[in-house]
Amino acid sequence: MPTALITGCDYGIGFEFTRQYAEDGWKVHAVCLDAASEGKLSGLSGDVRFHHVDVSDQAALATLADALKGEPIDLLINNAATFAPDGPRTLMLPDMDEFTRVMRVNAVAPIYVADAFEAHVAESTRRQMVFIGTRSGSIGDNTSGGHYAYRCSKAALNMAVKSLSIDFAANGVTTVVLHPGSVATETRKGGQIPVTESVSGMRNVIDGLTTDMSGSFLRYDGGAIEW
Ligand SMILES: NC(=O)c1ccc[n+]([C@@H]2O[C@H](COP(=O)([O-])OP(=O)(O)OC[C@H]3O[C@@H](n4cnc5c(N)ncnc54)[C@H](OP(=O)(O)O)[C@@H]3O)[C@@H](O)[C@H]2O)c1
Repeated sequence: MPTALITGCDYGIGFEFTRQYAEDGWKVHAVCLDAASEGKLSGLSGDVRFHHVDVSDQAALATLADALKGEPIDLLINNAATFAPDGPRTLMLPDMDEFTRVMRVNAVAPIYVADAFEAHVAESTRRQMVFIGTRSGSIGDNTSGGHYAYRCSKAALNMAVKSLSIDFAANGVTTVVLHPGSVATETRKGGQIPVTESVSGMRNVIDGLTTDMSGSFLRYDGGAIEW
């Protein structure tokens, strides 16, 4: 059976990806920010390996990549992300350190995750890297402004994934950005789509990916989104 490595599995979409793939017999390396999530993941059926790693810690990524050296990873899902609280002024900016933290976790870290696990994915059968983005990161789709840190971080992620699709073309690794929809999770109670439906939809899209789709920005139902 294939192997997946998924980041941000403590809650929400990452947890559901872990649950579904493990239930279907995949081996899942589940990367979590919180050590306490190990107990929650141990309740899942299937082969789930817990890893306590902050994706914005380059040394911790290198340690994990080294620990898994020689193990092919068919599917890498960069799902971990963070948000900043709104500030009080017109632009509702968080303070600059918060803005920078969001950029580091949402835009910078996924590039370093891709770099750390390039060989593992390139050695696998599927050779897929999926980055969970959002419509909020689309410049063409932006009609409401606001949420500067989150929007800018996810727009930067889009650029990174496009470049990765070019730089990884030679080793056959397919890279795409997926928008999960507006998903109801523990942290986003206002979402409209159940997390089970969003994740099943994204899994269908992932199953249908071909190398010529590398560098695309797709919704959970497979439709394209403008950059
Ligand atoms: N839900 C939606 O409607 C929606 C819409 C569009 C896009 N998305 C995207 O979908 C993905 C998952 O969202 P979600 O709704 O499931 O959010 P979530 O419940 O907040 O899950 C994000 C996960 O990432 C983890 N994480 C945060 N910083 C991390 C770090 N530095 N290292 C490792 N893990 C870290 C979080 O851990 P902690 O909880 O312990 O902080 C959490 O488990 C994100 O990329 C998000 O931007 C979601």
